[in-house]
Amino acid sequence: MSVPKKPLLKPLFLLLLFLSFLLLFHLFLSSKKSHVPSAVAGSSSDTPLIRIRPGFRSYDDYIKLQLNKTLNPRLRRVWATRDWERKVRVFSRFFGDLAAEGFLSNASAALCIGARLGQEVAALRGIGVAAAVGMDLVPAPPLVMQGDFHKQPFPDDSFDFEFSNVFDHALYPERFAAEVERTLRPGGVAVLHVAVHRRGDKYSANDLVGGVDGLVGLFKRSELVRTRKVDGFGLDTEVVFRKTKKN
Ligand SMILES: *[C@@H]1O[C@H](CO)[C@@H](O)[C@H](O)[C@H]1NC(C)=O
Ligand SMILES: *[C@@H]1O[C@H](CO)[C@@H](O)[C@H](O)[C@H]1NC(C)=O
Repeated sequence: MSVPKKPLLKPLFLLLLFLSFLLLFHLFLSSKKSHVPSAVAGSSSDTPLIRIRPGFRSYDDYIKLQLNKTLNPRLRRVWATRDWERKVRVFSRFFGDLAAEGFLSNASAALCIGARLGQEVAALRGIGVAAAVGMDLVPAPPLVMQGDFHKQPFPDDSFDFEFSNVFDHALYPERFAAEVERTLRPGGVAVLHVAVHRRGDKYSANDLVGGVDGLVGLFKRSELVRTRKVDGFGLDTEVVFRKTKKN
């Protein structure tokens, strides 16, 4: 005895097959997408103000590249010796200016993001900011603790002042900015040194192709206080934000 034929079954089966294929294809595409950072930040048009550099296939690749530079023994030796005094001196001048303008005081809880061995932290402590600490992928005790600026290891409203000259290293610039704003207390100040008139180095993950506008667009809870030209180790522009809105 044979099973009675149901003429509807075959097309239904084909339709289901087709739909599952579509679903799988869609899942495949979206899984690929989640590893590729969005190129548009701070802009709703299709000409991005911040361009993510090509070549980062995943966040892991990105971390590997950053660690490769940070852990390079030759570079670390240079940073700890030849570079140390000169950098501390230059950073002290930057922070002295910022203190004179009222953006920083001895009582400030201060964070330096991407501080490597911590010359900027030493500079802050040197001018009297005792509660200054640095953060980088690789810790350098006692000045620099371990942390990724895409997900800072600090509670909300932790700092009065945050400084960074590694914004160009952010693979996800919007997360970098959101984390600064989250960990700054309202009224707190963020100071970034960025390259506007020139390009960052080969470790840069993004370029500010639209000047500081791309950056300003990312700081949604802050006001732009001022920008000025600086000569900061290949970075030419200092941008000062003040957090105005609560988390
Ligand atoms: C790190 O960089 C060095 C020198 O540029 C290179 O020889 C090495 O293969 C790199 N290592 C990784 C894990 O990328
Ligand atoms: C910290 O206090 C000392 C002594 O009063 C002062 O000379 C210095 O300028 C202060 N530093 C800052 C960053 O305000």
